[in-house]
Amino acid sequence: MTEIGPVADKVTSYFYALLFVRHPELRALFPAAMDAQRDRLFKALLTAAEHVDDADTLTDYLSHLGRGHRKYGTRPEHYPAVGECLLGALARYAPDTWGPEAEAAWVHAYTAVSQIMIDAAAADESVSPAWWHAEVVSHELRTPDIAVVTVRPDQPYPFLAGQYTTLETPWWPRVWRHYSFASAPRSDGLLSFHVKAVPAGWVSGALVHRARPGDVIRLGPPAGSMTVDHTTDNGLLCLGGGTGIAPIRALVEDVAEHGRRRLMDVFYGARTGSDLYDIDPLLTLARKHPWLSVRPVVATGPVGGEVNSISGQLPDAVRQYGPWRAYDAYLSGPAGMVRSGVDALMGSGMPSERIRHDFIEELVTAGD
Ligand SMILES: Cc1cc2nc3c(=O)[nH]c(=O)nc-3n(C[C@H](O)[C@H](O)[C@H](O)COP(=O)(O)OP(=O)(O)OC[C@H]3O[C@@H](n4cnc5c(N)ncnc54)[C@H](O)[C@@H]3O)c2cc1C
Ligand code: HEM
Repeated sequence: MTEIGPVADKVTSYFYALLFVRHPELRALFPAAMDAQRDRLFKALLTAAEHVDDADTLTDYLSHLGRGHRKYGTRPEHYPAVGECLLGALARYAPDTWGPEAEAAWVHAYTAVSQIMIDAAAADESVSPAWWHAEVVSHELRTPDIAVVTVRPDQPYPFLAGQYTTLETPWWPRVWRHYSFASAPRSDGLLSFHVKAVPAGWVSGALVHRARPGDVIRLGPPAGSMTVDHTTDNGLLCLGGGTGIAPIRALVEDVAEHGRRRLMDVFYGARTGSDLYDIDPLLTLARKHPWLSVRPVVATGPVGGEVNSISGQLPDAVRQYGPWRAYDAYLSGPAGMVRSGVDALMGSGMPSERIRHDFIEELVTAGD
């Protein structure tokens, strides 16, 4: 696909133009304003199609994607329409490599990918709703741009500590974003999220500055592999940066509930001391549980007093406190932090299969 790379943006625009002109009924499934992330669908199609012979690796990803598409209102008969426009866009922008052979290969690949998604969605219909409605029951502003939003789903919402969901607000219909659960499953069924309003962010801005108790949002199914393996006694080394501390807090609660005294070392990274918006509950948990240690790491310098932070970057702090031989690692936060954290851990000898993090763009960009 070397021919497509340099013109990927044009291919994406052309693909959607074809789709909406030929199948105007599909326009209503997509957000009113197609933002910068509109190329996710197209990139995933290209990547999945290129990796189609590696079906084992792709099946989990595609099954999850297919189940997740139920919330968009995607139906089996939509797949041929998307496939036909994908071929149309490729034929136009890869004229040198396009021909009957390339077309046959793409039809084969697209059909295989679609079938996995369609089958997974169909199997999911009997066991799970396409989406959940959830009412905001509390909204707590922790800093000028970070809020803890707690919601009550209209039906039981099964998930595991460390996972995330997709969320749509009433102010940006059909615009879905990912947010991590900030606590382990609770007996009252409530779900909490820590949301940071990013500059000009559509969904995060609405959740932090606009959402109030009584507002109703929609949730997609849970996802993510950053969950605790309760069959081992390995320690847990957790790195959470910014609101990436939310799923780490859920993991702490999960380990506490399982009652096993596994060592758990949490490094909580933030730019400044005042960005450590969730430090108090974590320090309270650390005082209660002798197996838990919580170390705040502040980029702009140490914070004294009870918080007693380390100054610097998360990966350096983690290197300083190792070795982490009998530990599994969990990382959550901005992509750059996760990448440098993984590098630091692997550099200190931790095997990659002991490192868990969710960075969903990974598979999509793998084939770029
Ligand atoms: C697995 C996963 C879990 C996540 N969990 C959480 C969570 O628990 N809490 C949370 O607050 N967020 C979380 N996010 C990020 C979240 O999904 C959104 O990307 C984020 O809230 C921005 O969405 P938006 O619609 O407000 O911004 P958009 O409208 O998508 O973006 C607006 C502008 O901001 C830029 N931008 C996007 N993200 C950032 C950023 N982080 N910093 C600076 N600029 C940015 C964009 O490039 C764009 O220019 C998670 C993401 C993933 C992939
Ligand atoms: C093999 C086929 C397909 C693949 C690989 C694919 C892949 C993707 C991916 C990766 C995303 C990004 C968000 C997410 O992870 O859910 C996405 C979003 C979306 N897809 Fe698909 N998709 C396929 C087919 C379809 C079909 C047939 C439809 C129905 C017309 C559809 C409708 C949508 C919609 C509405 C979105 C949300 C768009 C947005 O948020 O801007 N997809 N798709």
